[in-house]
Amino acid sequence: MRTQVVIIGSGPSGLLLGCLLSNAGIDNIIIDRVGKDYILGRVRAGVLEEGTVDLLRQAGADERMHLEGLPHDGFSLAFDNRDHRIDLFALTGKRVMVYGQTELTRDLMARREAIGGTTIYEASDVSPQGFDSAAPFVTYRKDGITRRIDCDFIAGCDGYHGVSRKAVPEKSIATFERTYPFGWLGILADVPPVSHELIYANHPRGFALCSMRSQTRSRYYIQCPLDEKVENWSDDRFYDELRLRLPAAHAQALVTGPSFEKSIAPLRSFVAEPMRFGSLFLVGDAAHIVPPTGAKGLNLAASDVHYLFEGLRGHYLDRSQAALDRYSERALRRVWKSVRFSWSMTTLMHRFPDGGEFGQKIQEAELDYLTHSEAAATSLAENYVGLPY
Ligand code: FAD
Ligand code: DHB
Repeated sequence: MRTQVVIIGSGPSGLLLGCLLSNAGIDNIIIDRVGKDYILGRVRAGVLEEGTVDLLRQAGADERMHLEGLPHDGFSLAFDNRDHRIDLFALTGKRVMVYGQTELTRDLMARREAIGGTTIYEASDVSPQGFDSAAPFVTYRKDGITRRIDCDFIAGCDGYHGVSRKAVPEKSIATFERTYPFGWLGILADVPPVSHELIYANHPRGFALCSMRSQTRSRYYIQCPLDEKVENWSDDRFYDELRLRLPAAHAQALVTGPSFEKSIAPLRSFVAEPMRFGSLFLVGDAAHIVPPTGAKGLNLAASDVHYLFEGLRGHYLDRSQAALDRYSERALRRVWKSVRFSWSMTTLMHRFPDGGEFGQKIQEAELDYLTHSEAAATSLAENYVGLPY
């Protein structure tokens, strides 16, 4: 088998890249190690930057998002039993779109089917090879048979645990990492959100986030110790703890109901450099992870796709290598700014076991600064809505 671009991974980055390439007439095949339903079962991101929304439009997968997604003009920082609203639109002229990763993935899958793109699900032993030569190829096993796809380029869109980054010789790649001494326990429940905008809460008992998927579906998170077990958290215990971390007015307004998803995610910052190795390109979580506090993970995957698509379009349609040659440098410049922002918002909003009184005083001073300085609030807002590509 032969194609122009093999995309490893059918998450948001692989599907978005696949749709953009197909729309431009560039042949591609997506391979994933799991099936469609498994991918759609993952509950992850919820907030999209305007750049991501625009890429979904270019991909032809934005119709349902515009009907069902919730445009938000602001969010709240809660601390000291009160709320401070960050007016994103007034400060930046931009808004964000609340639309879940599950729905976005479903829309991209539907678009791919509609345009007849090939996706191979449930492939094992996927292996990118020959990417340092003029003849790259990818092998995989399916139905007991080993198969091979020859190609011009390989896009490693296979997430943090994927094979693409691991296929690169250790001496050719540098990694930078920070782990955080806590995780997020999250639930999804069909109850109306406590507020029509997101609330990020800094509280002595730990961070809490009130988010949503729709007017009738809420997504709530609380900071928890890394060794915490989901089984220890009944819905009642979760809601009791969430109430304790919110300003009283919100705690009283919280509508509770049975959760249908409950999971714990660790928090990590990670970057691999560079993001190109010959004809292999790393994209999204395969190259970098951010803690979820600034809602940047999925949006960074989208900006990588933007830069890579520009590069591949230049190569195939304009016979120019310039944008492809700059992929790693352009993507990483934006990645590091989002890594910085996600780290700073995580540091501002969470209780650190070893933070001490000094750490707490610094947090209080920064929250006070954000509340009283338009310049500080604007800086937070412009990062939250997404820096330009
Ligand atoms: P992924 O979504 O990880 O997709 C990778 C795909 O590659 C998967 O389908 C996988 O099956 C496939 N794959 C893996 N290994 C192989 C292999 N060997 N062979 C073939 N295919 C393979 N971001 C936010 O912005 N906000 C959030 O609230 C948020 N919450 C998160 C919660 C959790 C638990 C996690 C894990 C992430 C969260 N993120 C969040 C991050 C966001 O979900 C990711 O940044 C986004 O999914 C990245 O997309 P991706 O396509 O690069 O990678
Ligand atoms: C969601 C997750 C985030 O990490 C965030 O910052 C905002 C929203 C969510 O899952 O809805």
